[in-house]
Amino acid sequence: MGNETKQILIDDARRAGERVGLTSDEIIINGGKPLHGRIEVRGAKNLATKAMVAALLGTKPSVLRNVPNISDVRVVAGLLALHGVQITKGEEPGEFLLDPSNVESAHMADIDAHAGSSRIPILFCGPLLHRLGEAFIPDLGGCRIGDRPIDFHLDALREFGAVIVKEPRGISLTAPHGLKGANIELPYPSVGATEQVLLTAVLAEGQTELKNAAIEPEIIDLICILQKMGAIINVEPNRVIFIEGVEELGGYKHRAIFDRNEAASWAAAALATEGDVFVGGAKQEEMMTFLNVFRKVGGAFEVEDDGIRFYHPGGELVPVTIETDVHPGFMTDWQQPLVVALTKANGVSTIHETVYENRFGFTDALNKMGANIVVHKDGLHDYTRRVARRDFEQAAVITGPTPLVGAEIEVPDLRGGFSHLIAALTAKGQSKVTNVGIISRGYEDFIGKLTQLGADFIFEA
Ligand code: EPU
Repeated sequence: MGNETKQILIDDARRAGERVGLTSDEIIINGGKPLHGRIEVRGAKNLATKAMVAALLGTKPSVLRNVPNISDVRVVAGLLALHGVQITKGEEPGEFLLDPSNVESAHMADIDAHAGSSRIPILFCGPLLHRLGEAFIPDLGGCRIGDRPIDFHLDALREFGAVIVKEPRGISLTAPHGLKGANIELPYPSVGATEQVLLTAVLAEGQTELKNAAIEPEIIDLICILQKMGAIINVEPNRVIFIEGVEELGGYKHRAIFDRNEAASWAAAALATEGDVFVGGAKQEEMMTFLNVFRKVGGAFEVEDDGIRFYHPGGELVPVTIETDVHPGFMTDWQQPLVVALTKANGVSTIHETVYENRFGFTDALNKMGANIVVHKDGLHDYTRRVARRDFEQAAVITGPTPLVGAEIEVPDLRGGFSHLIAALTAKGQSKVTNVGIISRGYEDFIGKLTQLGADFIFEA
């Protein structure tokens, strides 16, 4: 790779770490105006970034289409560039060509400096061990929504034969005897740990059986990519994934699955603002659980071939009880945007958060704006729940309707941040939302989309 291209990508990654995409970090919103219009969602953040890492496993170039222009993608592009992967933009918007022919080691300090606020670097472990025999992974960023440990990842890597040493700024890994297939059972169907196992097992010697795997649509899409590259992976009943290691993988051509978190966020914005938004690119199957809840709350939707129309059909919104869960349950990432609509529902809604320990921090700002949300940090200990979950859970009890009024609020994390935008859009009067750069980690051009939907705001780019 030319030094110039490499430097551009590295600079990009550095800026991403500093929340690029936006030069200003605050937006002034005049609320009370329904969102109307059409926007398009692009490829899923939680697939595209992993698909880029998968390209590292191949001996031939890969083509990834529908890549969102978000800062998490820039961080991964920068890290791949540091490791010698040549990334160029293709002809269509959002098309990346990734050439891993000259993978090379990078300096720990550079990796550390460019890893930014993403959690994706942990997924470089298996691919780098296969390609280079060693890896350094910096301490991880990501949203502050719980402890977010990496023990499942490290335990799985050890099963494959990796030796892991804790360094002051991260971990370094080697595989003195190569990586060998393993029988692994995850303590919980973790998305990231399942991806870790997939990205490691495909080139490991022998067979790997993964029990209690996550089966999110983004994971199935990653499996499709790996199969295109030459991997042999069977998704079996009851969360079992069986992988037969192969000696070499080639490249892939793939269009990333749509971002169902982004789609759900705009749907929630349409409902809360009493608007009507057509989300181009959204698909029904991956959103079935969300659509059921959306309908129960009082929202309406129409599924078309090229997207889904979400709107408020008039009438009162209805309170609901939701438990977040792994797929095919109600995603943890969907609850924050929907909470704003629930402040408008007539009665008491309850959300049990069972995936993360700390994902209701964003509700403080909503209360400041007039909502009535009580967070039970230790959950509600409701033993009648359908399935026994984990040791921790939090519950939020939302009593509505409570009209929101404009306030100055600060974005705490990605999805909570989008919920703050929705709150400001629905509130009476003016709100100042600060720290909005975080939102560009996962929402492509959300400022442009707000404009397209007729929102009334001031943002100095
Ligand atoms: N966990 C552990 N140990 C581990 C790994 C996970 O205890 O080694 C715990 C986590 O602390 C958490 C639970 O297991 O309580 C689930 O974590 P998981 O590994 O499934 O999540 P992740 O891979 O870190 C991805 C998405 C999240 C999304 C979750 C659940 C990416 C980059 N992130 O995180 O997305 O909420 O799966 O679907 O894919 C977001 O997009 O805003 C976001 C946070």
